[in-house]
Amino acid sequence: MHEQKVAIVTGSSSGIGLETSLELARNGFYTYASMRNIEKSKKIEEIAKNQNLPLSVIQLDVNDEESITEAIEAISNEKNRIDVLVNNAGYGVFGSLEDLSVEEMKDQFETNFFGVVRVTKKVLPLMRRRLDSKRTIVNISSVGGCIGAPILSAYQSTKFALEGLSESMYYELLPFGIRVVIVEPGFIQTNIMNSSIMAKNGSNHESPYFQLTQTIEKYFRSMVNDNLDATPALHVANTIIDAVNADTPDLRYPVGNDAKTILEARKKLNDREFVDLIKNQLLTNQ
Ligand SMILES: NC(=O)c1ccc[n+]([C@@H]2O[C@H](COP(=O)([O-])OP(=O)(O)OC[C@H]3O[C@@H](n4cnc5c(N)ncnc54)[C@H](OP(=O)(O)O)[C@@H]3O)[C@@H](O)[C@H]2O)c1
Repeated sequence: MHEQKVAIVTGSSSGIGLETSLELARNGFYTYASMRNIEKSKKIEEIAKNQNLPLSVIQLDVNDEESITEAIEAISNEKNRIDVLVNNAGYGVFGSLEDLSVEEMKDQFETNFFGVVRVTKKVLPLMRRRLDSKRTIVNISSVGGCIGAPILSAYQSTKFALEGLSESMYYELLPFGIRVVIVEPGFIQTNIMNSSIMAKNGSNHESPYFQLTQTIEKYFRSMVNDNLDATPALHVANTIIDAVNADTPDLRYPVGNDAKTILEARKKLNDREFVDLIKNQLLTNQ
């Protein structure tokens, strides 16, 4: 009998992480749904119990080296393998570069970029060993990892950095048979607007960027929270399942019609044409 494959997902308390953990478990992976605050585990535990899914919740804060070490050691002791790692934990910061403090920007990188670095470095030694199995690292980037946007300079920078890291890791891990996949969601119906924050100076009426900041924040909030066309988080989870089950997964998976349209435009248009498109979408009415 084949040993059960093992998956770990960061940021499983809500949104994409929660749906992905459940889908991996439904697809036969023994899934560690990791989250920094274990008190938020009720929802996923109830669903897993009702559906009799192979899923355990485990504490892991991507900013806390010790919690990562403990979680991965626990998995190593219990299962001695990790076949799938989904680096999903993340949040957003709104604010122009001038309104953002260096600390606020560093915090954004700590979670969205160095969080991925820390967890992946701990998982790789265990993952590298199982040469007999399909193993995949899925990094949740964003459309924002490929295009700039005003007032999201910190967030987009973290996702651009993640794209560069992931693409480089892709080559490094080829000799070990470990596949690296980048997922680029558009607007997804999740909790992200509630968990995202505003730069301290972003809501200062005296800021020369105040009006633009308000407009952009409102636009993104409406596109995630009130947009019936925003993609359900389950679609991201299903894309991840397709990628991890594929014999030869693609490097990049845009998710949602909005993501596919804008990323196609980015490929087809030259810089001048593309920035005009974004200016028309985000900077009109200013
Ligand atoms: N929603 C979108 O439109 C969209 C679009 C493109 C990309 N994404 C990306 O998708 C990923 C998931 O976001 P989501 O939309 O599902 O938002 P979400 O519902 O707010 O979920 C974010 C998850 O990340 C967790 N998290 C934050 N900081 C953490 C840390 N230090 N350690 C461990 N977990 C941490 C949160 O935990 P708590 O509950 O404890 O805060 C939560 O579980 C993010 O990387 C985001 O950038 C989202």
